[in-house]
Amino acid sequence: MPEQPVDYVERIKWFHQARFGIFVHWGLYSLLERGEWVMYRERIPADEYAELAGRFTGGEFDAEKMTGIAAGAGAKYMVMTTRHHDGFCLFDSKVSDFTSVKTAAGRDFIGEYVEAARKAGLRVGFYYSLLDWRFPGYFEPDKYPDSAREMVEQAHAQVEELLSNYGKIDALWYDGGWAADGGGWKDTSRTAMAEFWRSAELNHMAREKNPSILINNRSGLDEDLDTPEQHVTASEPGRGWESCMTMGDSCGWGFIRNNPNFKTVPQLLQHLVTAAAGEGNYLLNIGPRGDGRIRREEKERLAALGEWLGINGEAVYGSQRCELPGGMIGAWTRSGRTGYLHIFRWPGEEAVIPLVAAKALSAKLLSTGEDVEVRQEHNGRLVFSGLPKEPPHPYVNVIRVDFAAEPQRMVEKDAAAWLEGRAGDR
Ligand code: GLC
Repeated sequence: MPEQPVDYVERIKWFHQARFGIFVHWGLYSLLERGEWVMYRERIPADEYAELAGRFTGGEFDAEKMTGIAAGAGAKYMVMTTRHHDGFCLFDSKVSDFTSVKTAAGRDFIGEYVEAARKAGLRVGFYYSLLDWRFPGYFEPDKYPDSAREMVEQAHAQVEELLSNYGKIDALWYDGGWAADGGGWKDTSRTAMAEFWRSAELNHMAREKNPSILINNRSGLDEDLDTPEQHVTASEPGRGWESCMTMGDSCGWGFIRNNPNFKTVPQLLQHLVTAAAGEGNYLLNIGPRGDGRIRREEKERLAALGEWLGINGEAVYGSQRCELPGGMIGAWTRSGRTGYLHIFRWPGEEAVIPLVAAKALSAKLLSTGEDVEVRQEHNGRLVFSGLPKEPPHPYVNVIRVDFAAEPQRMVEKDAAAWLEGRAGDR
C-alpha cells in the first residue's frame, strides 16, 4: 500500500532547519574544464562528445571525502548531478548505455554518494536534467516528434529509477525543463513545458514512491521550492526557497580550469546570512575536476565556512525571518524572541540599529562570548557600545540579542517623525 502523502509543513521542516547545502556538478564536461555547458556552447557533435566517457574513470572520486568536506563546512544536505544536460548518467540506468556504470569508470557514483552522504549525516538531493541535448527532438520537437517523445520517456524512466534504487531521497532537484533557444518551440510557457514533460504525472509518481520528498519548481510546476539562481531573493512567507550559486564565474557549475572570480569567504557568508534572514536556504556549488578531486579554492572556502558556522551556527540553522533593519552594517536573523545581528561591516566601538520595537534584555557577541552593552533610545534606536575597535572575527560578527518579545520593526506612521527624534509608535 502506498504511504500517505505528507503535509507540506511537515515535509519541509528539515529543510528549514538546514539552511545550508552543497551542490555538486560533476560529469563528462568536467574533463574539458570549460564548464558544464561546453557540449552545446561549442556545438560538439554527440558522437565526439560521447568519446569522453572512455576517459571518465573518476579515479580520484572519493564520496566519503566529498561528503566529509560538505559536513565540515556546516552543510546539512547535498544535491548532486545524477545527469546533466549532456545526458551522461552517473548512475545505472536500464534505459541508457550512456552511464558511468557501462563505460570506462564502471562505477555507480550516485550510489557511492548516497551511501557516503547518509553516513555523514547529510540529507540527500538528486539533481536531474529533464532535457538531454543528444535528442534532436529537444531542439525541434515538431520536426522530430519521435525523438522528443523518447526523451520524455527516458526522463520518466530515469526519475523512477533514481527514486526506486537508492532508498529515501530527500529532494528532487529538476533542471532543464525549459524549451531550447531559437528552436522549433511555439509555446515556451511554463504550462506548456509542464505539459511537454508530463510533469504532473512524473511528480505524482515521485510522491508515490516517496511521500516526504521535496520537489523544486523546475519541471514547469511550482511544487515545493523556488530556486533563485546566482542571486538571493526571498519568496513569499510560507513558501520554501533555496538560492543556488557558483563560487566562481556564473557559467561555471562544472569545473573551469581558470576561474578568476572566486567569491571571498565574507561574500559567501553574506549570501548565506541573507538567505537565512529571509527564511531560505543557500545551496553553494562545487565542481570537482574530471578525475573527481575537489579543488583547493573550494576546499579552503568550505573549511572557513565550517569554522564560522561552528561559532555562529545558532544564528543560521532553523532561522526565521526577521524584519528588523540592518542599518548600515548588516542583517538580522531570528529564532523566536532572539535576534541575531550579523555585522558585515564592523563599525568600531559603537553599532546602531534603528526602528526596533521590542525591549532588548541582553546582548552577547558570539565570536568572543563576551556580553555587550546595549541601550534603547526612546526613538527605537538600539545602540551597542563598548565593542572592540577592530572586528574580532575577520568575516562576519554576530551579536545575539535576547528581546522581551518577538522583535519587530517600528511602523513609521509619520515618515518624517524621525527627524525630530520621535519614535513611530507602534
Ligand atoms: C542552470 C544551468 C545549469 C546549472 C543549473 C544550476 O539552469 O543550465 O548548468 O546546472 O542552472 O542551477
